[in-house]
Amino acid sequence: MRKNKFSLDKFIEHSLYDKSNGYYMKNNPIGNKGDFITAPEISVLFSEMISIWLVGFWENLGKPKKINIIELGAGTGEMMFQINKSLKNFEIFKKSCEFYILEKSPQLMKIQKKKNRLFKIKWIDKLNKIKSFPTIIIANEFFDALPVKQYKKLGKAWYERYVVKNKDKYEFKDEEIKFHEIEKNLGEKVQKNEKFIEFSPRSNEKISEISKIIKKNNGGALIIDYGYLGKKMLDTVQSVKNHKKTDILKNIYQSDITHLLNFNFYKKKFNKKLDKIKIISQRKFLINMGILHRAEILSKNLTFHQKTDLYYRVQRLIDSQQMGELFKVMFVTNRQNNFSMGF
Ligand SMILES: C[S@@+](CC[C@H](N)C(=O)[O-])C[C@H]1O[C@@H](n2cnc3c(N)ncnc32)[C@H](O)[C@@H]1O
Repeated sequence: MRKNKFSLDKFIEHSLYDKSNGYYMKNNPIGNKGDFITAPEISVLFSEMISIWLVGFWENLGKPKKINIIELGAGTGEMMFQINKSLKNFEIFKKSCEFYILEKSPQLMKIQKKKNRLFKIKWIDKLNKIKSFPTIIIANEFFDALPVKQYKKLGKAWYERYVVKNKDKYEFKDEEIKFHEIEKNLGEKVQKNEKFIEFSPRSNEKISEISKIIKKNNGGALIIDYGYLGKKMLDTVQSVKNHKKTDILKNIYQSDITHLLNFNFYKKKFNKKLDKIKIISQRKFLINMGILHRAEILSKNLTFHQKTDLYYRVQRLIDSQQMGELFKVMFVTNRQNNFSMGF
C-alpha cells in the first residue's frame, strides 16, 4: 500500500478491489477450497427456489414479453448457471428474459463467462446500461461485500474510523468529524441517542440506482444477505480467511472483509422511492418456496449417501443455528404489485 492513511471504507475498498493486489481481483475466494462458501455453492436447490420465484414474479407482472433479470455480484456464476439450467421447463419465460450480470472483478467475470458459456448473458459495469423493460434484480451476498464507513460518538464529539500504516503495521485511528458531514454522507438524520454508525456509501448509491429503475420500469429486487433487523447500528465488520475469522488489519489482500446489513436502514433508504418492502428470514423464505418438498422429490432416486448429503446441505441453508436466521431475504417493489410468493 503506498498511501499511509485511509478512511475505513477506502481501506476495505483497497484491500478487496485494488487493481493489482485486491482480494477479489486476482483469485476466486468462493467455495470449499476458497475462504468462504455461499448459498448457491452449498446447494443447487437454493438457485432453483430463486428460479421459481422469478417465474412467479414475471407471471404476477403480467408475463411481459421482455424482462431484464440482473444479478449483482455473481461470484463464480453458479446461481446464474443454475437459474438458466432450471428454466428449460419454462420456455416462454426464458425467451422473455434479458439476463445481465453486474460484476466488478475481472477474475470472477472470467469464471462466470466460462461457466455460463452456453447461455445468453450480458456483463455490465453500470446499471444504466440496461433497456427499459420491467426489471428484476437479484443479489446474494452482494451488499455485504461493499465497503463501510464507521463513526462513533465520544462525549459530545463524533469521530470517523481510519486505518493508518505505522512502519509495517496497520492500526485504527479515529479522527474528529463534524456532525453535519456525517448526516450529509449518510443521507439521513442521525437517530436520537445514536452513538455508533456503520453504513456503506456504495450501498446507498446502489439502492438509489435500483429504486429509480424499479420505479421507472416496474419490477422489483430480491436481496439476500446476512444482517440484522434492530434500529440500533452495530459494529459488524469482519474478516474471514480459510473459513475462519481473522484480524482485519492483518492478511491485507488475503482475506475477505464483510459486514452485516442493517436491514432497517436499507428499508428506510428503499422507502424513499419504493412503497412495498418485505423482509423474512432465509429459513422461512426457502421453506415457503418449497425447498423441503423439492428435496423430498429429489431424494426418492438417491442412494443413502446422496440423500444424507442433500439434506445436510438443505439444513445448512435453513437451520436457525446456521444460515437460516442470520440470512434475511428482502423484497422491494412498487405499490401496485401484490406479489408475495415466499413471504
Ligand atoms: C461475496 S461475493 C458473492 C458472490 C455470489 N453472489 C454468491 O452468492 O456466491 C460478492 C460478489 O460481488 C462482486 N462485487 C463486489 N463489489 C461489486 C461492485 N461494486 N460491482 C459489481 N460487483 C461487485 C464481487 O466481485 C463478487 O462477485
